[in-house]
Amino acid sequence: MTQTFSRLFPRFFMSAVVSLFLSAANLFLCGSLTAQHVLTPYSYSIPKKALVSHGAVVSAHPLASQVGVSILQQGGNAFDAAIATQLALAVVYPAAGNIGGGGFMVGHLAAKSATAQHKATAGRDIALDFREKAPASATRDMYLDAAGNPVQGLSENGHLASGIPGTIAGLFAELKYAKLPFAKLIQPAIDLAENGFVITAEEARNLNHDQGYFKQYNTVQPVFLRTKEWAKGDTLVQKDLAKTLRLIRDKGAKGFYEGETARLILEEMHRGKGIITAADLQGYKAIERTPSIFSYKNYSIVTMPLPSSGGVVLQQMLKMVENQPLAADGFESVKAVHLMTEVERLAYADRAQYLGDRDFYSVPVDTLVSPAYIHSRLALIPARAGNSRDIKAGVLSPASEETTHLDVIDAKGNAVSITTTLNGGFGNKVVVGGAGFFLNNEMDDFSIKPGIPNMYGAVGTEANAIAPGKRMLSSMSPTIVLDKGKVYLVVGTPGGTTITTSVFQTLVDILDFGLSTEDAVNLPKFHHQWLPDVVYVEPGFSIATQDSLKVMGYTVAQRGSIGRTEVIKVLPDQRIEAVADSRGDDAAVGY
Ligand code: DON
Repeated sequence: MTQTFSRLFPRFFMSAVVSLFLSAANLFLCGSLTAQHVLTPYSYSIPKKALVSHGAVVSAHPLASQVGVSILQQGGNAFDAAIATQLALAVVYPAAGNIGGGGFMVGHLAAKSATAQHKATAGRDIALDFREKAPASATRDMYLDAAGNPVQGLSENGHLASGIPGTIAGLFAELKYAKLPFAKLIQPAIDLAENGFVITAEEARNLNHDQGYFKQYNTVQPVFLRTKEWAKGDTLVQKDLAKTLRLIRDKGAKGFYEGETARLILEEMHRGKGIITAADLQGYKAIERTPSIFSYKNYSIVTMPLPSSGGVVLQQMLKMVENQPLAADGFESVKAVHLMTEVERLAYADRAQYLGDRDFYSVPVDTLVSPAYIHSRLALIPARAGNSRDIKAGVLSPASEETTHLDVIDAKGNAVSITTTLNGGFGNKVVVGGAGFFLNNEMDDFSIKPGIPNMYGAVGTEANAIAPGKRMLSSMSPTIVLDKGKVYLVVGTPGGTTITTSVFQTLVDILDFGLSTEDAVNLPKFHHQWLPDVVYVEPGFSIATQDSLKVMGYTVAQRGSIGRTEVIKVLPDQRIEAVADSRGDDAAVGY
């Protein structure tokens, strides 16, 4: 496990730490993006905050946020803007923005925005699951050798690591709530791919970091691989991706799951001994699920149900702290961090034991979030450091982490929170030859063997074992907080298993500690996930609190950045405050 973490952390988090120092240098590249249709090459600034009256988009890239806002300005609603932003991210943020991956959307349709088309659904919350699925010929032990041991890297890199992509099916399912023609929403992404865009220092670093993998896992040389190092200011042009996006524009989801793009995916699978078939692609469906909705104090929390663990884990954690004097204890105080760490430990122990795709495994969700169960778990919290050897998942009666996040709000009060991913940075490192996009390595989110940690250190059991057609358990937790039925906060982040603890802390920071949005986003976070039994803290986390935690018996370890949290908050005077995480190139744009 230690090996897994040391392998992982430099890759995903140390780069983010470095970016903390370097992002200041990126703040003002030059000029700004204003054109409705994009011109080439782009240059841009990276705005971290928008305080506006009409609508806002926060995403991992300034060009993508700007594309979303320009769609709002052209009369699109939050769903239109989210679709356009997601597609732009697939071009300008290839490490995580994607068409070869999957994700989740949580949306809120404001009652007052009811149009004839949307009347029946106005004033409601939506959860959309476009998570990848295991291919039909996937088997439970497919990443184990003959002796039953995991084959190093097999679920992480290369063709076999990819689940069936869900993003394009997800985009067309989102379109049901949008107003503008799809062709208009995808055009900025096509233009960015066709004409190219200027990369930032962080993008150059990410691309340079994975050159060895690109070389190793690609049979057709992708544009991302080159002999000269990538540098800030270079222009990245993606002609193959532009062609694929045009097919999707002209043929809809069939432009991806059938025809030319499907043929290129199948040829890629053939070259790399992958197992995704034409039937797998044709059979993929995004699923609208009932969102997980629960109260926290006077608010309604709307978040993602299974196959994201987010809904259950976030509800357990918030409910355990709801009646505790967190505000009096104070942000980063030993008492507050102790309580929140123990709550995280308890929730992640249940995650490992019970959570998986409900379409394949019976998960006792109602029991896990019931007041009686929450109460019984809370009673287990010791005065000093708990120990994960002593904490197991609760005994229930028989009856019973490179990703990217975006938030959008429009002038009518509709909101969208989307987390989407290839899993690791650049997914399985394979670019579909001739089609120009990376495939995911989401199969690693399954429990490939009970007790064997995945790349985020998460362990699992039967509930999350591999089965054909099953969706792998996720931590992605796109969330919307409603106050008296209206959007108050839109929140989410990447970060593997740290996603749910980051969303938990961001909500508590704002709702209990009364932190400003910027502080809730940018001040150091911490993370505990049951196993390993370690409190991970970000650089800058109070040394005094760390020392006190150690005296209480905790193992505390400093690590790289935790997530890249994006928050939109609606102020009492109805202005919109959008804040982008300073840990990366993330940008908040509004009007
Ligand atoms: O679904 C999940 O939980 C992971 N595949 C997310 C991966 C992630 O957030 C990586 N980003 N840092």
